[in-house]
Amino acid sequence: MTPENTLIEIRAEIAQCMKCPLAYGRKNTVPGEGPADAEIMFIGEGPGFYENEQGKPFVGQAGKFLDELLASAGLKRERVFITNVVKCRPPDNRDPEPSELEACATYLDRQIAFLHPKVIVTLGRHSMGKFLPTAKISQIHGRSAWVRGQLIVAMYHPAAGLHQPNLKSTIVADFKKLPQIIEQARSSEMAQKAPQQIEEEPHKEDPTQLSFF
Ligand code: URA
Ligand code: SF4
Repeated sequence: MTPENTLIEIRAEIAQCMKCPLAYGRKNTVPGEGPADAEIMFIGEGPGFYENEQGKPFVGQAGKFLDELLASAGLKRERVFITNVVKCRPPDNRDPEPSELEACATYLDRQIAFLHPKVIVTLGRHSMGKFLPTAKISQIHGRSAWVRGQLIVAMYHPAAGLHQPNLKSTIVADFKKLPQIIEQARSSEMAQKAPQQIEEEPHKEDPTQLSFF
């Protein structure tokens, strides 16, 4: 890995980025945070009000719920990497536009390439869509699938649980399954190889053909 691709270099580039219109409304960029040896990565949608104020991911209400969910799965926040598909706040917390997702993808791709996490947990549709573009969250939430040599777990966005009480218990139940999925990834040979070492792996764009477990 060249120094340009270290997390610090990626963070510095994001801080200067003007590649999409979200640059103009931001107070702070929110590159994400976590240790360089994190095994698990959580990917949300984009910074909200408090994240934009502080330059840190998931520090508002959804972040508080995420902290509880992490604890319930036996995970320490400071041991996982938390980021978003877009690194600047969309105005009024609207969904990121496809063009913004595309402009910002390079940073997330490089964070993933650097960390090579054993498990990627997607929080919400936009994050899931990066790995499983045709999947439906209502069908695959709480389940895992190998995508390009990486074990992906699709979760509902924690903010959805705050707005819809019936979803909250679903999210809580889904996070309880995480320790077992992480164990499975740790013991898998696939996760121990660098992506370039993987020759044959499940890489099917049709999620109905992916093996979820
Ligand atoms: N929601 C997100 O998707 N990301 C954050 O960082 C905060 C709230
Ligand atoms: Fe750059 Fe991403 Fe911010 Fe757009 S959202 S300005 S691509 S860092």
